[in-house]
Amino acid sequence: HAADAHRTDLMTITRFVLNEQSKYPESRGDFTILLNHIVLGCKFVCSSVNKGEEQKKLDVLSNEVFIKALVSSGRTCILVSEEDEDAIIVEPSKRGRYCVVFDPLDGSSNIDCGVSIGTIFGIYMVKDDHEPTLADVLQPGKQMVAAGYCMYGSSCTLVLSTGKGVNGFTLDPSLGEFILTHPDIRIPKKGKIYSVNEGNAKNWDGPTAKYVENCKFPKDGSPSKSLRYIGSMVADVHRTLLYGGTFMYPADKKSPSGKLRVLYEVFPMSFLMENAGGQAFTGKQRALDLVPTKIHDRSPIFLGSYDDIEEIKALYAAEG
Ligand code: AHG
Ligand code: MN
Ligand code: MN
Ligand code: MN
Repeated sequence: HAADAHRTDLMTITRFVLNEQSKYPESRGDFTILLNHIVLGCKFVCSSVNKGEEQKKLDVLSNEVFIKALVSSGRTCILVSEEDEDAIIVEPSKRGRYCVVFDPLDGSSNIDCGVSIGTIFGIYMVKDDHEPTLADVLQPGKQMVAAGYCMYGSSCTLVLSTGKGVNGFTLDPSLGEFILTHPDIRIPKKGKIYSVNEGNAKNWDGPTAKYVENCKFPKDGSPSKSLRYIGSMVADVHRTLLYGGTFMYPADKKSPSGKLRVLYEVFPMSFLMENAGGQAFTGKQRALDLVPTKIHDRSPIFLGSYDDIEEIKALYAAEG
């Protein structure tokens, strides 16, 4: 019966993406091959995390593994990694149509205490086979063709969007395959949680301070919200997607652009949020409309449940 069919008819991430891409026969094989190489990197980092590799080594190791896996896929032309100051231009003989921006190991301060960490990635596609330049990746996030993250926690979960909804896959270690476990993730329209580093509160701007004040002391008689902050963007965003609420890394007086990087942190997570029915806002505009000018640009970010982000947008609009 149905339960058995579920157990025996395994929806692997490869099968899922092949189905999804069957409408675009030209790109279908290439995208699947690229994704398989990203998945290989995620499996490697997952197994290294479980073995308890040292922090420094793990940062560098993860970056190396992703770069080698991406280049050898033969489907990429330019790579941007949080760990490398310069973009990597893939040598001509190994070039393909995709640009990948990624944070190989996010939440690195959490490694040594065993708290969840992750990998974040975003994918752009170039139109023709011109010589790749930085302009190919200095594109607004809404131009991404796919984005996702892998969380290395009590289990290893890969969350992916190719622009039509968001799906979650869990690594079955005995099979070595990511299996669809969270089909069509939709973020609750309104949440009961806010997530921010409150240690920075003395330097916040008015609207951020007011929003957090409203979370604790609601003026409309609604119950106060719960605070959850892990300090690993992947884990904080994952919880926000599943349970609803807000995740913020706002600007402050000391860092007027916030902390998180536009290309490989803000954009992929904003892409996932919008595809799950939520919103992502910078304090000034829709996050996915930002046009980065440098590959390691930063931006303030407020993302999460649709209604909760509306509330933050209203506070910024009122300030003028
Ligand atoms: P990374 O480990 O890749 O440098 O990024 C860490 C980021 C992100 O994961 C998290 O949301 C944020 O730093 C936490 O910053 P604070 O410690 O300032 O709260
Ligand atoms: Mn990071
Ligand atoms: Mn990192
Ligand atoms: Mn770092």
